Amino acid sequence: MIKHLSKTALLLIALAGCKSRDEVSKQPEDALKAAVKHYEYLAAQVEPGKYPKTYHANKKQLETSGSDWWCSGFFPGTLLYLDEAQNAPHLKEKALAVLEDLKREQYNKTTHDLGFMMYCSFGNAERLNPKKEYEDVLMQSAKSLITRYKPAAKCIQSWDSAPWNNAGPDEMPVIIDNMMNLELLFWASKFSGDSTYKSIAINHANTTMLNHFRPDYSTYHVVIYNKNTGKATKRITAQGTADNSSWARGQAWGLYGYTVMYRETKDDKYLQQANHIANYILTLPTMPKNLIPYWDYQAPGIPNALHDSSAGAITASALIELSGYVDKELSAKYVNAAKTILTALSSPEYFAEQGTNGGFLLKHGVGNMPNKTEIDVPLSYGDYYFVEALMRYQKLK
Ligand code: GLY
Repeated sequence: MIKHLSKTALLLIALAGCKSRDEVSKQPEDALKAAVKHYEYLAAQVEPGKYPKTYHANKKQLETSGSDWWCSGFFPGTLLYLDEAQNAPHLKEKALAVLEDLKREQYNKTTHDLGFMMYCSFGNAERLNPKKEYEDVLMQSAKSLITRYKPAAKCIQSWDSAPWNNAGPDEMPVIIDNMMNLELLFWASKFSGDSTYKSIAINHANTTMLNHFRPDYSTYHVVIYNKNTGKATKRITAQGTADNSSWARGQAWGLYGYTVMYRETKDDKYLQQANHIANYILTLPTMPKNLIPYWDYQAPGIPNALHDSSAGAITASALIELSGYVDKELSAKYVNAAKTILTALSSPEYFAEQGTNGGFLLKHGVGNMPNKTEIDVPLSYGDYYFVEALMRYQKLK
């Protein structure tokens, strides 16, 4: 049929092709602009003392939590990022009001996720506007977090209750997600001059590197340790499809976590670890073309399994940072992969239309499939790492 088209028609088609390529590369920037409007809407729905978790489209209902939920730092963190990127002082004002409520969690010793909760929120507030008030909260949070460190096992305990029946009193779980809580500890050592926090972070990362990873650099979700001997006794999953599978968000947390470890220590072994994890993810035969992972890289039903937009967002953000630490060729590979992810997440398939999705940015996140909770929904952490990745991507340019 093409031979029947005039030269003019062919030229128009070629130009249209160029235009759509330009539009694709503009999508990430446009998403950041649009995000402000989404979060204005979301912020207006959230009552004081409540934290947005997700939105149930079928019931048109926003689900919120209290400040003790592991995700409480993401909402104020996203508001602060959006003010930083787009100059949205009304969002910053909301963020600061949320911090007033969230600060009570600095004393919480029952969670390993205090890094997520306090560093994504107060950490950003302190970075943008250093203040004694934030510093005190962050220091106390770091103190609370290290109470969970078990010297014999050389790592920070995750949940207090083991995720299976008949756990022995000496058994404790550590999840790969816990790598994300270490950034707070590096900040605490830098700020206070006390190296205890940093040493604990390094020990935790080394122990995790030793016990969580398989020879192909995929990661188990949960490793069970004996608290007294430090021996790793079981390797299981909580949020993946099987003990031996690669839960997609877990791989993303590992990639992000070891990238931060390299940033903070400049120890080459962490850079190698992050590169190996990136290579595992990017060469998987089950990685979809748009690089938005299935919720588990071995999920049943692939290619019809659900994707997890949050795993995509975390992976993109980590790859952009990692691209700054490697040679030119690898760097270009990571940036291209991140761009592919961000382009997909900024497209209508993933980026919600204004006034839908409860104000959240991303659709199609998977929280906890085995638990049958938060499936194919927006997630506050998906939005946080998406906005972070967009900002990092903009800075590259
Ligand atoms: N435990 C944190 C997560 O669901 O990724």
